[in-house]
Amino acid sequence: MTKVKLAVIYYSSTGTNYQLAQWAEAGGKEAGADVKLLKVPETAPQEAIESNPAWKAHYEATKDVPEVTLDDLEWADAIIFSVPTRFGNMPSQMKAFLDTTGGLWFNGKLVNKTVSAMTSAQNPHGGQESTLLALYTTMYHWGAIVAAPGYTDPVTFAAGGNPYGTSVSVNQDGEMVEDVQAAVKHQAKRTISIAEKLK
Ligand SMILES: Cc1cc2nc3c(=O)[nH]c(=O)nc-3n(C[C@H](O)[C@H](O)[C@H](O)COP(=O)(O)O)c2cc1C
Repeated sequence: MTKVKLAVIYYSSTGTNYQLAQWAEAGGKEAGADVKLLKVPETAPQEAIESNPAWKAHYEATKDVPEVTLDDLEWADAIIFSVPTRFGNMPSQMKAFLDTTGGLWFNGKLVNKTVSAMTSAQNPHGGQESTLLALYTTMYHWGAIVAAPGYTDPVTFAAGGNPYGTSVSVNQDGEMVEDVQAAVKHQAKRTISIAEKLK
């Protein structure tokens, strides 16, 4: 059987979701998938980025990460998204990208993609679940198959117990509070295994 094609698509201002995406990339490769790690285009004004040293540093450090295109979505059998929580929702950068997928949607090109999502937030109850559910709402419109982790492995409990997708809290210094690496890898492997069954 040909390899499952996995696109890990993320947005990150200060690096947390880039790290989550890199762990998902590693988990996907361990599961035997052909993996692309892709960022969504930055849409914030340059002044906003420049005014935040952590944002500016991350923006510069990830300049070479390829930006996702609609062709990448068509290519992928499976997609893992990673986004920071913004007021309990996904960031506008990811929403802007999702809002360019109308043509693919209209032509049925997004049907039966296996999808899964991850997030981070400053507070454990600051909207992690609502961010994931908001992103999944678009996936239901796509006709995608949402491969949430549920409680399919004990690593989910150790990572804070979010069954909708791995989520992590970040402290004032931007450091992750929970150890979620194993949960991310489990989520990636589960996403691949479901995509394999569909393929
Ligand atoms: C505009 C804005 C809105 C945010 N909204 C929330 C929120 O609703 N709940 C929360 O806990 N953290 C919130 N945060 C904190 C971010 O979720 C946190 O900085 C992010 O998860 C870090 O991810 P990144 O390093 O990948 O950018 C917000 C941050 C910004 C800049």
